[in-house]
Amino acid sequence: MLKKYSAYKNLIQLAHPLVKSYITKIRDKNTSYLEFRQYVDKLSMLLAYEAGKEVGLKSCNIKTPLASYRGSVIKDEIVLMPILRAGLGLLNGFTSIFPEARISHLGVYRNESTLQPIRYYFKFPVLKNKKNTIVYILDPMLATGGSMCSAIDETKKTGVLKIVAACLVAAPEGIKEVQKYHSDIKIFTCAVDKKLNNKGYIMPGLGDAGDRLFGTI
Ligand code: PRP
Ligand code: URA
Repeated sequence: MLKKYSAYKNLIQLAHPLVKSYITKIRDKNTSYLEFRQYVDKLSMLLAYEAGKEVGLKSCNIKTPLASYRGSVIKDEIVLMPILRAGLGLLNGFTSIFPEARISHLGVYRNESTLQPIRYYFKFPVLKNKKNTIVYILDPMLATGGSMCSAIDETKKTGVLKIVAACLVAAPEGIKEVQKYHSDIKIFTCAVDKKLNNKGYIMPGLGDAGDRLFGTI
């Protein structure tokens, strides 16, 4: 079940009842970090399933035990790129849907006073065919959009043509920022929240995703 926001081009919000219930679980401040991780895992699998609609297929011929069959296989090479740290929380769910994906790591944190993204690490695979590659950038939170735009900028420099942003909670400010600078990029999200507070946190949000995932509060 999907809801396509007409106000936001290229934004796909999951509207499945399981997503709504799991998102509520991770928003709850009384959810332990153990449960937080477990529900992020479930959400990321559902998100990967929906975002998987972006992959290209090619035909193949196989034989069932009874007959020949013309089927389909995934044509694209898949790269999963979690934005460190909190993006790592989405990795299990995505690798269970895309078991053969390569994994790129991008280190970005935002300066808590200026809210500007600071890039500190980037490792990207050597690709056979950039035209048939799809990069999923994973980050639970799209707040000002600075971190996601920085990740998209870096990924575009590799020459890959197809990039998809995947997050759990998005703020209108972050969605608009991505659309302003990268109108070609689709964003898949489990929730769209109201706004940012004056410290750049998503409201109502879920707090600091990295701290809640890794128990560093
Ligand atoms: C969080 C989150 C995003 C970023 C979103 O990471 O995981 O990467 O903030 O904010 P933005 O849209 O305003 O850029 P954070 O910088 O807290 O680093 P962490 O993952 O290491 O905790
Ligand atoms: N990063 C987070 O982890 N949470 C927010 O609400 C905003 C940025």
